[in-house]
Amino acid sequence: MTEPTLVKDAPVKEAAAKPHLPDAQVVTEVKHYTDRLFSFRCTRPASMRFRSGEFVMIGLMGDPDPATGKQKPLLRAYSIASPSWDEELEFYSIKVQDGPLTSKLQHIEVGDEVILRPKPVGTLVHDALLPGKRIWFFATGTGFAPFASLLREPQTYQDYDEVIITHTCREVGELTYGRDLIESLKTDELLNEVIGEGFWKKIKYYPTTTREESPKMGRITDLMRKGEAFEDLGVPQINPNDDRAMVCGNLAFNLEIKDMLEGYGLVEGANSNPQHYVVEKAFLD
Ligand code: A2P
Repeated sequence: MTEPTLVKDAPVKEAAAKPHLPDAQVVTEVKHYTDRLFSFRCTRPASMRFRSGEFVMIGLMGDPDPATGKQKPLLRAYSIASPSWDEELEFYSIKVQDGPLTSKLQHIEVGDEVILRPKPVGTLVHDALLPGKRIWFFATGTGFAPFASLLREPQTYQDYDEVIITHTCREVGELTYGRDLIESLKTDELLNEVIGEGFWKKIKYYPTTTREESPKMGRITDLMRKGEAFEDLGVPQINPNDDRAMVCGNLAFNLEIKDMLEGYGLVEGANSNPQHYVVEKAFLD
């Protein structure tokens, strides 16, 4: 299993040597997981408040316009992967070799600046759900990011008896970020203190892969249709009395699971109208 490459203690570059970007924040840590995935942390604007599960626009300056030489910010929506109480911000990203932003963003180092528009928004928030017994977090690929935030949010454990996180990826290495995060919860000081020792026993983690051998193979949607996922997890089929759900993955996955949740009788909620489930509206490229 691949260990992430941690580049944390590299000396912080002299930020003053460079022009400051608009809404600049400074990168404090970068970890590479696979040739397609990395995460990074950066400073957090002192005045920025957000609810765990929300996203912001982040990016870098684009290439200079050939005619004018002017540069414009190149921004994309990124779920904040750190919880609302964290003094820094964390993001989890794909690397697309010819992607306008991620082809550059994947090369950031500690001390570099990123642009961060401090206006968080999003649908994957506790406020958009009615009270329930069990919360399901359904993720594919980098869709794990908002759940990395919500899994570190005390309210998740205050509101629910059981927290189920499913993560479907193509390959085993793509599960590392999520698996490490869940492992780290066991020793999370804040959660152990606020929720109580052993709070993490409420979590049921269900990682699956589709293109590389792993203990559980298949798309979560297929595993649920067959009833296998419910059997493995030791829970009844999803129902609107007990279950709440949040969904974040690629577009096809979001649409398919939304259909399935509706089939189980769940109704889509929003900040203004809390119901049984919510789907991320910021699509990941
Ligand atoms: P698959 O390998 O069968 O396409 P991606 O990296 O393309 O975003 O996909 C991430 C994971 O999501 C992959 O394991 C992929 O499975 C899975 N996936 C893609 N579409 C769906 C879908 N409609 N329902 C469930 N899982 C999906």
